[in-house]
Amino acid sequence: MKYREIAQTGIMVSPLGLGTVKFGRNQGVKYPSRFELPNDQQVRELLALSRDLGINLLDTAPAYGLSEQRLGQLMTNRHDWVIETKVGEDFNEGASSFDFTAKGTHASVERSLQLLKTDYLDMVLIHSDGDDQRILEEEDVLDCLLDLRQAGKVRAIGISSKTVQGGLLAFAKDCDVVMSCYNPSYQDELPVLQAAAQQQRGILVKKAFASGHLDQLQMANSTPHANLPKTDHPIEAALQFIFSQQGVSSIILGTINPEHLCENVQLTEKILCQLGD
Ligand SMILES: NC(=O)c1ccc[n+]([C@@H]2O[C@H](COP(=O)([O-])OP(=O)(O)OC[C@H]3O[C@@H](n4cnc5c(N)ncnc54)[C@H](OP(=O)(O)O)[C@@H]3O)[C@@H](O)[C@H]2O)c1
Repeated sequence: MKYREIAQTGIMVSPLGLGTVKFGRNQGVKYPSRFELPNDQQVRELLALSRDLGINLLDTAPAYGLSEQRLGQLMTNRHDWVIETKVGEDFNEGASSFDFTAKGTHASVERSLQLLKTDYLDMVLIHSDGDDQRILEEEDVLDCLLDLRQAGKVRAIGISSKTVQGGLLAFAKDCDVVMSCYNPSYQDELPVLQAAAQQQRGILVKKAFASGHLDQLQMANSTPHANLPKTDHPIEAALQFIFSQQGVSSIILGTINPEHLCENVQLTEKILCQLGD
């Protein structure tokens, strides 16, 4: 898989990234079925397989339970990876809490550095509670991230947003990257992807497979790109749909199933080849 640059940061990411919610948290999540957290050996194998398949991007967050801690313990070489984590949301005893203050932001970044056993973070995103515009305009978190980027502790900054206004505002306020939800059954945030393409910013796509609710993807009404064959396979259709859209840097896929990981990479390679990418 040919790597793509996030804005003009020099950060090169694979078109598929590995989402790691399921490494660290199985409470308060919206997947179709319950699951056990993978054990240490399974996480090691998923990381090694991801690298073998060409994936270099890991998405994590303090709100993903044990995810950062387990990555720090189980990654064999931090420099193999582009690590993207978040600030602003935490998850303890089954409930989320939010803190977008300067103090909270600095403490969160320090804890991520410690847990991930690294002295820099490639990307840090604001983990929005949905009130994107207010967070970006009224809280201190964005100024802190701009300072951390200036100081070199963080290479790129942005927001995992939930609104079009939030995504666009983040770009207007000099963010490098936005994480947006986008798939055949949820296209509301398309203007953010279009803005990223126009302004040469990064987009990480979350929930590409509607968090595993594949029946929703099957019902979706999407027109494939002219170079792509029509498919009834919901995973292939979702990947086709998203990669046809300009502006996408990487799709962050949440899987703990090695067969699904391989299938997702194979389909991505085929689709990007068909698109001439
Ligand atoms: N606010 C935020 O910042 C935010 C919110 C949501 C998600 N995220 C990030 O985005 C990542 C992806 O989001 P997500 O996990 O909600 O949704 P997703 O990637 O749309 O879907 C993940 C689900 O799809 C299943 N799946 C994956 N590949 C498959 C395949 N080939 N065939 C059948 N099923 C497949 C996975 O099950 P298996 O494990 O069985 O493969 C998993 O249950 C997360 O891991 C997280 O890193 C961020």
